[in-house]
Amino acid sequence: MRVGFYQFNPVFGDVKRNLDVVATRLATAHCDLMVLPELFASGYQFLSKEEVESLAEPVPDGPTTRRLLELARARGMHLVAGLPERHANRCYNSAVLVGPSGFLGLYRKAHLFYEETLFFTPGDTGFRVWDIGSANIGIMVCFDWFYPEAARTLAIKGADILCHPSNLVLPHCPDAMVTRCLENHVFSVTANRIGFEARGGKDRLTYIGRSEIVTPQGRVLHRAPSDQEELTILDIDPTEARNKSLTPYNDLLRDRQPHLYEI
Ligand code: ACM
Repeated sequence: MRVGFYQFNPVFGDVKRNLDVVATRLATAHCDLMVLPELFASGYQFLSKEEVESLAEPVPDGPTTRRLLELARARGMHLVAGLPERHANRCYNSAVLVGPSGFLGLYRKAHLFYEETLFFTPGDTGFRVWDIGSANIGIMVCFDWFYPEAARTLAIKGADILCHPSNLVLPHCPDAMVTRCLENHVFSVTANRIGFEARGGKDRLTYIGRSEIVTPQGRVLHRAPSDQEELTILDIDPTEARNKSLTPYNDLLRDRQPHLYEI
């Protein structure tokens, strides 16, 4: 299975330009699954709730999801990508899954980071897994990495690959995803952005790049640089994630002791 990420520098508010950049870059890409960053077409650093509302879109009938659907059909690939979603007068920091056959699903970010808490409603979809034929994939968005319950829930639900659209600003996530993968025996594809935003006198947010693909053994197959645009596609065998045996005496998920985890 060929999986990849596209790390780039979106321009805030220029949805059409950002969609065009992605479409151009993917026009010659061959893969089964491509992960794009969090809020990849809108930009990240919002100044007000009104600004979020002006850029948030219905799913699947908004311009970003429609363009992703076109791309998925034309390129015969699945895409996971983040966008601001408007639903029932609320805005969510969401990610969609689309494929050659059409719209497949939606995840609304559960763990909001920093000023996202001012602008978005915490997600209500829970952590979901989809069978896309070549693999079972789960979606978590950026700061969800800080809550190991997110990755664990996806692993228990059968995810082979954690698709992880991100706009990382803290330095720890690329290394932390090594642990998320190891402790769940899953692959991850983290798609981060690069560049910075310092809008309207707000603190500068520098995005750390370093998008990566990690194996169930916690090996970083590839990590992008912190400040360069990069499209990476690698071959993986997602069925490696289905063997949860750690030693002849230890099976990762079987040996959990949920009755001891109750609080
Ligand atoms: C983040 O959740 N965008 C850091």
